[in-house]
Amino acid sequence: MRDHAIRVHEHGGPDVLRWEAVDVGDPGPGEVRVRHTRVGVNFIDTYHRSGLYPVELPSGLGLEAAGVIEAVGAGVSDLDPRLREGQRVVYAMGAPGAYATRRVMAAATLVPLPDDVSDADAAASFLKGLTVQFLVRRCHPVAPGDAVLVHAAAGGVGLLLCQWAKHLGATVIGTAGSEAKAALAREHGADHVIRYESEDFVARTRELTGGEGVAAVYDGVGAATFDGSLRCLRPLGMMVSFGNASGPPPAVEPRRLAQLGSLFFTRPTLYTYTRTRADLLRMADDLFAVMGSGAVRATIGQTSPLAAARLAHEALEGRATTGATLLDPA
Ligand SMILES: NC(=O)c1ccc[n+]([C@@H]2O[C@H](COP(=O)([O-])OP(=O)(O)OC[C@H]3O[C@@H](n4cnc5c(N)ncnc54)[C@H](OP(=O)(O)O)[C@@H]3O)[C@@H](O)[C@H]2O)c1
Repeated sequence: MRDHAIRVHEHGGPDVLRWEAVDVGDPGPGEVRVRHTRVGVNFIDTYHRSGLYPVELPSGLGLEAAGVIEAVGAGVSDLDPRLREGQRVVYAMGAPGAYATRRVMAAATLVPLPDDVSDADAAASFLKGLTVQFLVRRCHPVAPGDAVLVHAAAGGVGLLLCQWAKHLGATVIGTAGSEAKAALAREHGADHVIRYESEDFVARTRELTGGEGVAAVYDGVGAATFDGSLRCLRPLGMMVSFGNASGPPPAVEPRRLAQLGSLFFTRPTLYTYTRTRADLLRMADDLFAVMGSGAVRATIGQTSPLAAARLAHEALEGRATTGATLLDPA
């Protein structure tokens, strides 16, 4: 059977995704060929497709997949002797192109999968889980007793974030767009869930924290929540703006941070936090440890055939998904 990939020739809506036959070839120095078993869908894929984040066209799409190494190029064993033919691996980041049956890619982004993590769970939680790792351990290291606010708490990142923050001892306040999503977030560690479509989430967060405000807001929703998020923080609180699901957030003036209580502000990317292989492996170990202990579970909300990636994008952008979305290349 020939290999296939989803390719983008022009920016636009989900209908610009094209299912094409591709020649995969052999790995060069520092590269491996991977056969994908599950592909992870992430909101950033929609930004690459739409052009919100620039990519050179034509382009592949997707940053995350699990699979098996089929062939290894020169020098890979010096980088990591575990990266051999037959090794199960997962990755998140590198050049877009994960929406493919197989691909040749840089070995440096691959991480060997522990036996107790399935390919599906890995593809559902690697990019999102590494993101949560730096959110709860680095951007604002969550401490027992902290109250934190997690927007889109029933989403792919959201469910992992609720669980990990709860595991670290936080009181987790989530927001969600429906009652079913609110229930799911509660099942994954949220102590309180605010229906932000119908409730004033700033007033409710203040009420839930006795007027004090939260220690950190993790905001991947962006435009729709950004200003309110700043107003939910306690003095010296940390605003973590890490995404644009509802559109890019507005600019923030330094004096506004002063007026709201000497706030801290960061706009982190997984790319920066995993910029060395040592960082990537350390963060992956931390993620696999919390998954292995059962403290953090992957939640696969929906799976589509890889060729139907368009439907997966429509659902993700239409707020019709919960947890992680996978594509099945079989
Ligand atoms: N900075 C980084 O390195 C990094 C890494 C990974 C992810 N991210 C960001 O994290 C966020 C979550 O990513 P994800 O892949 O896990 O997606 P997701 O949270 O599963 O999906 C996005 C959710 O955002 C909420 N939302 C609110 N307003 C929306 C709107 N106008 N359009 C679409 N969704 C809206 C929806 O939940 P409700 O219906 O409950 O409101 C929706 O389900 C994204 O912003 C992504 O870019 C950033």
